[in-house]
Amino acid sequence: MKIAFIGSGNMGEAMISAMLKKSVVADNGICACDIDQARISAIEGKYKVGCTPDAVAAITDCDVIVLSIKPQVLADAMKNLRGKLQEGQLVISIVAGAKLSTLVRGLGHEEVVRVMPNTPAQVGEGMSVWTSASAVSQEQKDKAKTILSAMGREIHFPDEKYIDMATAISGSGPAYIFLVMEALIDAAVHIGLPRDVAGELVTQTVLGSSHLTRESGKHPAELKNSVTSPGGTTAEGLLVLEEGGVRAVITQAVIAAYEKAKLLGGDNSK
Ligand SMILES: NC(=O)c1ccc[n+]([C@@H]2O[C@H](COP(=O)([O-])OP(=O)(O)OC[C@H]3O[C@@H](n4cnc5c(N)ncnc54)[C@H](OP(=O)(O)O)[C@@H]3O)[C@@H](O)[C@H]2O)c1
Repeated sequence: MKIAFIGSGNMGEAMISAMLKKSVVADNGICACDIDQARISAIEGKYKVGCTPDAVAAITDCDVIVLSIKPQVLADAMKNLRGKLQEGQLVISIVAGAKLSTLVRGLGHEEVVRVMPNTPAQVGEGMSVWTSASAVSQEQKDKAKTILSAMGREIHFPDEKYIDMATAISGSGPAYIFLVMEALIDAAVHIGLPRDVAGELVTQTVLGSSHLTRESGKHPAELKNSVTSPGGTTAEGLLVLEEGGVRAVITQAVIAAYEKAKLLGGDNSK
């Protein structure tokens, strides 16, 4: 498989690194393109992959082209590639908010996959949700699945409407969790724990809770109840969280992020 990256910033690099690590593709099967010369020099030095500032040269002979640029420069990047893509080439866009119809129209190309990854992809623990245009073949879907699996877990949605919903959960989710972690660390310092110890306690607690949920297969409510002794310390802490309206605030945050995702995708109809 030969794969080109149009935009080799944070997410492009995370994908390149994950694919090389999982041997999904050889280093000579990757071409990283970026308009920032310093950036491609850094990628070239670190991963020994092909690099070019020329997007049209990058996509030549590639099976897969990943669009990993910021939404603000998507229109210009698509204009540059329009008419240069060959039948059989699969375009995978990770550009937040860019709908399949926008990508197909902008590129003048039908074989397009839209993905919403998240930042834990940088350590192989990402959650990618994706959807595909009707022209994408089963073989191309299998290729997309292999690429995304290198970064963590993936879920394909036949219906694109779920991408905006997933954006509000798994796309933005790491930021919600980081905010909670930051608050817990600050609270730990507030009651007297050294900051480095606080960081270790909070990080391992979040990691362990996540693993326990996954491995036990139990609902979080059941796991929460099992830590909560009658009349104990956890019950006291939970009461304060409930009094503060933590559930309602989380729901409101998710709804706000979902509405914004729809707005950025130009979809105000629902
Ligand atoms: N980071 C996340 O958490 C996350 C999660 C899900 C999805 N995404 C999506 O992933 C995409 C990439 O995000 P990122 O954080 O990796 O952005 P980034 O670090 O800014 O990387 C984009 C790179 O593309 C370069 N570039 C700009 N225009 C280009 C062009 N026409 N051809 C080739 N390269 C070009 C940029 O160079 P300059 O800096 O010089 O402009 C930059 O180095 C975004 O659309 C974002 O919505 C990000």
